[in-house]
Amino acid sequence: MKSAPVSADPGPVVWHRYAVTPAHRERLLGQRGCVIWFTGLSGSGKSTLAGALEHCLVAQGNLAFVLDGDNVRHGLSRGLGFSTEDRAEHIRRVAHAAALLADCGVIVLAAFIAPLRRMREAAREIIGPSRYLEVHVATPITVCEARDPKGLYGKARKGRIGDLTGLGAPYEPPERPDLRVDTARGEAVDHLDALVGLLRSCGVLEPPGE
Ligand SMILES: Nc1ncnc2c1ncn2[C@@H]1O[C@H](COP(=O)(O)OP(=O)(O)O)[C@@H](O)[C@H]1O
Ligand SMILES: [Mg+2]
Repeated sequence: MKSAPVSADPGPVVWHRYAVTPAHRERLLGQRGCVIWFTGLSGSGKSTLAGALEHCLVAQGNLAFVLDGDNVRHGLSRGLGFSTEDRAEHIRRVAHAAALLADCGVIVLAAFIAPLRRMREAAREIIGPSRYLEVHVATPITVCEARDPKGLYGKARKGRIGDLTGLGAPYEPPERPDLRVDTARGEAVDHLDALVGLLRSCGVLEPPGE
């Protein structure tokens, strides 16, 4: 699978090509670097599913890593808010981080709302379409709100958050995700077979050919 694309306007900067390629590292790891992008509303189960899949993959000997929206906002995206512009910049940054990890051969589990289609399309382009897989965590908003793991829906209903995705800010569901998961029923582990099956069907759990 290919390296991440370079930025559109690198200025007086020339891309340095190294002898060791992503394919070398993939053979070392016996897997292919890729990104599963979990998109869905707050409380839909993105982080929980990504964490369960990470645990499962690492237990079976695959190198996986969760990139989590809330965690990344503590560092790489610190200072960015929840305006459409800031959300787009947040997604641009994390897509580049995910692409670098995929270049390392890692199976990246990206748990980000990425509410607008154009944000996810930008991420797909940065990461490379051949190694970007989209999972729509399509849990109904009524279920997300009843869970309210971070208390965000409660705050939004009291008018203390105006731009919560699905209430004060839009969410555009993916039209053709690689997989759709509704976590309203069952536990996160109940969805692991489908998620691992998706990775298997894309050849991610095998090393690239010589
Ligand atoms: N089948 C399921 N899959 C994932 N999460 C579930 C499921 N059933 C209940 N939950 C709960 O829903 C909540 C989802 O929260 P979280 O994963 O933080 O969502 P998000 O990252 O999408 O904001 C957690 O409290 C989790 O325990
Ligand atoms: Mg989360």
